[in-house]
Amino acid sequence: MTRELVQCVGERRAPVIIGSGILDSVAARVRTMNGGVDPTKVLIVCDGAVDATWGQVVADSFSASHATRGQDQAPRSAVDVTRLTLHASEANKSIESWQKILAAAIEGNLDRKSLIVAVGGGIVTDLAGFAAASYLRGIQWLTLPTTLLGMVDAALGGKTGINLSLGGGALGKNLAGAFWPPSAVICDVATLSTLPVRDFRAGLAECFKHAMIADASIESLLATAATSYTSREAGEQWRLIDLVARSAAVKLAIVARDPREQHERMVLNLGHTFAHAIESQLSDEVLHGEAVALGLVAASFASAASGRMTLEQARSVRARLAALGFAVQLPRAIAMKKLENAAGFDKKRVGKALTLVLPLGDGGAQIVHGADGELLRAGFAAIGAVDGE
Ligand SMILES: NC(=O)c1ccc[n+]([C@@H]2O[C@H](COP(=O)([O-])OP(=O)(O)OC[C@H]3O[C@@H](n4cnc5c(N)ncnc54)[C@H](O)[C@@H]3O)[C@@H](O)[C@H]2O)c1
Ligand SMILES: [Zn+2]
Repeated sequence: MTRELVQCVGERRAPVIIGSGILDSVAARVRTMNGGVDPTKVLIVCDGAVDATWGQVVADSFSASHATRGQDQAPRSAVDVTRLTLHASEANKSIESWQKILAAAIEGNLDRKSLIVAVGGGIVTDLAGFAAASYLRGIQWLTLPTTLLGMVDAALGGKTGINLSLGGGALGKNLAGAFWPPSAVICDVATLSTLPVRDFRAGLAECFKHAMIADASIESLLATAATSYTSREAGEQWRLIDLVARSAAVKLAIVARDPREQHERMVLNLGHTFAHAIESQLSDEVLHGEAVALGLVAASFASAASGRMTLEQARSVRARLAALGFAVQLPRAIAMKKLENAAGFDKKRVGKALTLVLPLGDGGAQIVHGADGELLRAGFAAIGAVDGE
């Protein structure tokens, strides 16, 4: 079973293909999408954690697609494939790694008809996408996310980017980047079988966010995925395909209506003002998805404080996230002031006014410009922030 969605970012349309065991036909798909023509050269940029496994499958697909041509056909030279492996870490989502990709592109003689193929989690796909956006002022690229978060979030929507150093060891996340949608997004849920459980669960937080924003039916699939993980086993993979497809569809619909994040796309930041503040204080202790789960709890209690949902409903969000295995309290006491300050530096702040995305009791979320700082404090208090500096 393969599901196909369409990504529309402004004028640019691209297929989003979701299936299991589909990486070995990547080269054939590329050729079909290109009207039967192979790219001149291919640079595969791969996450170190999947280079020997999924990266190899993708590389093999480019050599195999040539080896299996009909016997009566003249042999064609194989597509020239260059490979580059990167270690995925936020510190490595850097100018230096971007430069390495460009250097590999030069080394591999990539031209305007060449293709960059990104295989990995959001870190590697953001990096490779930004390199594709900048090399020769932009060449085509393909993204093959291998994390759940990548499939339902990072690989979708056309944003690419890297972190910049702010000095003193601090990282400015995603401060340089480009809107440069890939020619296709290919999500092979079989790759999730090697993903550590903790990273897998982190991706579920973004699915939960999508359920809150637009499709409550996603939640029933999360429970199965989180409690038994059976859907990561062969034969049960249709569940994962369904989860990825429904969750991706939420983001794609919103991106299609507001590609440049002028208004509606901001709802996808639900929980993220809180999450980014938490990550700034606990960067080594929580994964992004874990911070998002805490952020969704905080946003729900902030919403209750503003009258947009009842306290009962906010408690229910908290209980449902806890049932999925997420921590719903900060792992240690953090001063309210620190979190508030960190939230003040959040990119979603427009001018001096605080913009918060708040979930609504009956489903959906609302972008609230000029939100009262009291709501921010109510949210942080609900997850265990303590008074003080
Ligand atoms: N462009 C966007 O719109 C967008 C949206 C959301 C997030 N992001 C970015 O995505 C990044 C986070 O992405 P992520 O959560 O995928 O994290 P990640 O890229 O760090 O991957 C998580 C970990 O899993 C490993 N890994 C990846 N696939 C694996 C597999 N199949 N088997 C075993 N190990 C595997 C990686 O090496 C890494 O250690 C952040 O940098 C964030 O800024 C971008
Ligand atoms: Zn997120």
